[in-house]
Amino acid sequence: MCGIVGFSSRSVSACGPLVNGLRRLEYRGYDSAGVALASERDIRVFKRTGKVAELDRLLNAELPENERSTYTLGIAHTRWATHGLPTEVNAHPHVADGGNLALVHNGIIENYAALRAKLEARGCVFVSQTDTEVLAQLVATFDRGDLLSAVSQALKQVEGTYGIAVISRRHPGEMVVARKGSPLVIGVGENATIVASDVSAIVSHTRQVIYLKDGDVARVLPEGVDVFTLDNVPVSREMQEVEWDAGAAEKGGFEHFMLKEIFEQPETLRNTIRGRLDRVDGTSVLAGLNLPPRDLASIRRAVIIGCGTSLHAAMVGKYLFESLADLPTSPEQAAEFRYCNPIIGPSDWAVAVSQSGETADTLAAVRESIGKGALVSAICNVVGSTIAREAGRGVYLHAGPEISVASTKAFTSQVTVLLMMALKLGRTRRLSREEGLRLCEEIGGLPDKVGEVLKENDRIAAIAAKYAEAEDMFFLGRGILYPTALEGALKVKEISYVHAEGYQAAELKHGPIALLGEHTPVVALLNDIPGKEKTIGNVQECRARRAPVVGVVTAGDDDAARHCNDVIVVPRTSAACAPIVTAVALQLFAYHLARIRGCEIDQPRNLAKSVTVE
Ligand code: M6R
Repeated sequence: MCGIVGFSSRSVSACGPLVNGLRRLEYRGYDSAGVALASERDIRVFKRTGKVAELDRLLNAELPENERSTYTLGIAHTRWATHGLPTEVNAHPHVADGGNLALVHNGIIENYAALRAKLEARGCVFVSQTDTEVLAQLVATFDRGDLLSAVSQALKQVEGTYGIAVISRRHPGEMVVARKGSPLVIGVGENATIVASDVSAIVSHTRQVIYLKDGDVARVLPEGVDVFTLDNVPVSREMQEVEWDAGAAEKGGFEHFMLKEIFEQPETLRNTIRGRLDRVDGTSVLAGLNLPPRDLASIRRAVIIGCGTSLHAAMVGKYLFESLADLPTSPEQAAEFRYCNPIIGPSDWAVAVSQSGETADTLAAVRESIGKGALVSAICNVVGSTIAREAGRGVYLHAGPEISVASTKAFTSQVTVLLMMALKLGRTRRLSREEGLRLCEEIGGLPDKVGEVLKENDRIAAIAAKYAEAEDMFFLGRGILYPTALEGALKVKEISYVHAEGYQAAELKHGPIALLGEHTPVVALLNDIPGKEKTIGNVQECRARRAPVVGVVTAGDDDAARHCNDVIVVPRTSAACAPIVTAVALQLFAYHLARIRGCEIDQPRNLAKSVTVE
């Protein structure tokens, strides 16, 4: 949610690296963008509504190449509006001290109204509606010759979340950054130091990074970084090497990141599974969980917490934990969970699922669970993310950077990790070694099965074309496939703006069936697993109301196919693996629907990749 970049060098112009960094972070928000460039003489601010490309055009028009080289320090921002409309005035960077100080911010200053009133009473004049401008003015009021100390003092007055970068003409060559609740990473290169909301904006410069912790404030110079607490106590933060390179964050010849990420799934699943199956004892090896069998066996209940696609993975997790490990499990929407004073304690296991590891509600749910003494684990993709660190134990997806706002490869890896967790849990509770070995075999075969689904791409595209004019759609699933129906509907909603609803197959007739008709396609998940016959019955109910039915059907299952107008074929799997192959088919369906409708697939309207506000 909002992307920030900062660049500091002695010799290299900041302009190009900042704009390129913003392009990498554009998935975090894209309603406006801006940059502040500092030289020895001045700070210049450029802002535009719309995408980073608009900002780039403005810079090309107003800042000739020969002038750029003098600006070797700068900060930049791409916005997802929280306070105030997406206008140029509300775009970051925000300035204070007569334009001498500039600041970019990701997060929300909750007490901004009270702070603004105090500053106005002291004569400060505001031009925007944003919380961020309040922070910029506040920092300026504390500046008595030490920028780091001014930032620290201002932040002590702030309630809320922030990842910020600040520059000032009064402190040439220096940038101060800080974080609390919003991610911030510092890349330390040979000729420059670059700061960003995530490593995708850094890896083209360096793979040596420092992840700031909540409450850290840092002075960033071209030669390196000094980190302090807000009380000015120096702290040391370990330098880490990023696993992947710049190529991983490129489209690699695909038209969209979403399509690239869908097609990466055989590989990402291999990475998720690699080294984690024990084919001797028929269990999984999840070292990061750090839970010996005795602890696993003593867990009485699991809650699996997430939002959006991660919540759907959590819902699949319930079926897996209960069917494979006899562990009572409830999936929980993170925001609901955190505010319902949840009944959770030392015999419960809270598993937080989050691709980004930064989702505000999921993080708060983790804190709530830790505070109530539960055992807490995380399933995250982004290494070093806040949720991963605060949970303290967990399993990384190793799915590589997911750039498209619509989550795809993260979902299949999340479900695969939950499956491996269920296997491990199950082996401490009720699964025999033989059953465990069979499951290992199945999990190991998933990448190839997903590869088979991808071969259906053209056929799925043709089916999507038939239904591209529909304005309403239903997705039906039963049992373990119900969350996949929700996920299929979410993908369609997000990227093609078609109204799509996921339902338990049997629930449709309790009301929503009133909406069915010949212009309301139903996508029915008819994989050949227990429950299929019942879902076929529900399909017949839909067809009796003239609704066309697209069935997701197991290869060779003519019986299921004959009940459908169109058929998307997926390979045969057990029930436990069915959500994974089915989700991939639905991702392709949603992708083609959006493409045919001419939607902007990687950056759908109103959305942001990482939701770091409540
Ligand atoms: O990073 P997280 O997995 O915590 O994100 C949760 C949701 O915001 C995310 O899954 C969202 O629903 C995606 N846009 C779905 O495609």
